[in-house]
Amino acid sequence: MIAIVTGATGDIGEEFVKSLLAETDQVWAVGRSENKLTSLKEKYGYKIVPVRVDLSDRDNIFSFCEKIESEKPEIRYLVNNAGVAKMKPVSDFTLEEISDMLDINDKAATLICRACIPYMVKGSYILNVASASAFQPNPYIALYSASKAYLLSFTRSLNVENENITCTAVCPGWVDTQMLPKKRDGKDIRYPGMTPASKVVEVALKDCHKGKDVSVCSFYFRYMRFLSKVTPHSIAMKMWVKAIRQYI
Ligand SMILES: NC(=O)c1ccc[n+]([C@@H]2O[C@H](COP(=O)([O-])OP(=O)(O)OC[C@H]3O[C@@H](n4cnc5c(N)ncnc54)[C@H](OP(=O)(O)O)[C@@H]3O)[C@@H](O)[C@H]2O)c1
Repeated sequence: MIAIVTGATGDIGEEFVKSLLAETDQVWAVGRSENKLTSLKEKYGYKIVPVRVDLSDRDNIFSFCEKIESEKPEIRYLVNNAGVAKMKPVSDFTLEEISDMLDINDKAATLICRACIPYMVKGSYILNVASASAFQPNPYIALYSASKAYLLSFTRSLNVENENITCTAVCPGWVDTQMLPKKRDGKDIRYPGMTPASKVVEVALKDCHKGKDVSVCSFYFRYMRFLSKVTPHSIAMKMWVKAIRQYI
């Protein structure tokens, strides 16, 4: 019985790898950097199976899906965790940056779910790492936020379609990882309610075992989710832009 974790070389990904090693015979650690994958195997041992895949590359994604189809592993956990984020207006993105972000954050996760589902037995789990930014539109991280809204919506539907598999959208707020820049123009950036990666993973695994289709790891961001449901999004967007104005 195996677990597949994409973005295994990142901070949240490594926490998933660590936790799932105890519950499975192998963890397929998916990443694009050979060196980082080798270090992961050296650190966690023989149960780690490094799989090099660039999730922005169509051929790479399809080859990985074909590998799953040919090896037919019994998959207990699939964690689509790889993701990229950039904070800037859409008009400042190159076409390639947009295409890569949507491929990594949405297309790869969707195709990998499709490839894995036939090999997931009753009682298995799909965790798709979305974000609290999925709860409302967020100008200046519009693409990231919209890509995570896709993942949230997709995961909740998948959970209904597949009775034997619990599908959970993991929606943390700010997490203390290398993804977040810590300074801008020499000034410290403040991230309200920031959580450690270990906490996100601990709560995500508890929530999926309870059968929840959405996991939000802190009270602060559960409250933000509630606010985003009861506040008109035109107002919520104004509040968001006001909060981040100093960093734009
Ligand atoms: N940090 C936050 O505040 C936060 C909040 C909410 C949600 N999230 C989500 O949490 C997930 C993990 O992020 P993190 O914070 O742990 O950041 P991270 O440490 O930067 O990890 C990102 C992971 O994605 C991988 N990745 C990026 N581009 C890839 C590509 N083209 N092909 C294959 N893998 C690729 C990275 O691989 P490399 O090591 O090769 O770069 C890395 O393993 C992401 O989906 C992110 O959107 C993060």
